[in-house]
Amino acid sequence: MINIAILGASGYTGFELLRILANHPNARITEATSRQYKGKTVPDVFPSLRGFYDGLVFSDPEDFKRIRVDAVFSALPHGASQEVVPALLEADNRVIDLSADFRLRDDSVYRAWYGEHKADFLLKEAVYGLPELYREPIKDALLVANPGCYPTGAILALSPLLKEGLIDTDSVIVDSKSGVSGAGRGANLDTSYVEVSSGFKAYKVGSHRHAPEIEQELSVQAGVPVSVTFTPHLIPASRGILSTAYANLKKSVATAELHNIYAESYGKEPFVRVLPEGKFPDISQVRGSNFCDIGLFADGKRKKVIVVSAIDNLVKGASGQAVQNMNIMYWLKEDTALNLPPISI
Ligand SMILES: NC(=O)c1ccc[n+]([C@@H]2O[C@H](COP(=O)([O-])OP(=O)(O)OC[C@H]3O[C@@H](n4cnc5c(N)ncnc54)[C@H](OP(=O)(O)O)[C@@H]3O)[C@@H](O)[C@H]2O)c1
Repeated sequence: MINIAILGASGYTGFELLRILANHPNARITEATSRQYKGKTVPDVFPSLRGFYDGLVFSDPEDFKRIRVDAVFSALPHGASQEVVPALLEADNRVIDLSADFRLRDDSVYRAWYGEHKADFLLKEAVYGLPELYREPIKDALLVANPGCYPTGAILALSPLLKEGLIDTDSVIVDSKSGVSGAGRGANLDTSYVEVSSGFKAYKVGSHRHAPEIEQELSVQAGVPVSVTFTPHLIPASRGILSTAYANLKKSVATAELHNIYAESYGKEPFVRVLPEGKFPDISQVRGSNFCDIGLFADGKRKKVIVVSAIDNLVKGASGQAVQNMNIMYWLKEDTALNLPPISI
């Protein structure tokens, strides 16, 4: 049995970890933290989990800085995670961090986008937790940097093209639309019902912090620097990210050829579904699941490729991927607790 602590368990990704792990035969959650809900039980805060964690009481994160379990999921905001991760590793825990604190390998890039880092010595040690690209190093990792939600959809959509050298590395555009849970559970006017329920807007244009993460990982796949124009949008949905990526093809390629290339990359992947020619993903078709659906189109006349991906930001974009990583780290079947169809209706 893997003993687990979830730091920041009262947020959206914390809830999703609790929901998924309730169905995990090898996981036992011994600690869950929240400052505002300390002393309350899980069903007090998440009534839908009644009957699953009735005896689990939220505790103060301050009391668990030197906790010793087996695996710690840190679902804290960026900045807060780096304050606790070094001590958790020293105490011999393996850590899966859902925040952005350990995703960027270059400390100068981290500083440019987020400011000072209190544990930058760990940036080179952390393994980027995208199983489709880093399955082997994840197996032995002590610290897994779980990818961001937008980067997960964008990197899975574009990696095969860059690995094959099929597109111009300075022509990549990623246009993404996210449901509101991507912003977390804290009250915020910009993400309140009235503000978002009938709107649809771009935000952080040219300045979203997921851009350097997408560029970092696509550059690894390409073997040369890749620059990405990334624009996120907020849509009136609670979950889901649809990303439409465009790039210039170096040579004319048919859509059927693209399908062969993606089948080569993802044919054996349990959570990437490349849709048949002419079909494109829909966030409703991945909701509540760990799938990333991908649709492809090669515009031969204009030498452009269009790749569309859909994920649930809280599952493949966060907690489902984190459990997938835990399964890999503990040599379990990779889809344990994750092998469920989406809630499409
Ligand atoms: N939402 C997504 O779609 C998504 C996807 C991928 C990655 N992520 C990342 O995952 C992490 C969690 O996201 P979320 O959406 O679950 O956020 P959230 O809903 O705002 O939850 C944050 C959690 O951390 C706790 N917390 C906040 N500040 C803290 C601090 N200074 N010290 C200790 N605990 C603190 C909160 O509880 P208390 O305030 O009661 O302590 C809460 O339990 C973030 O780093 C986020 O960027 C989110």
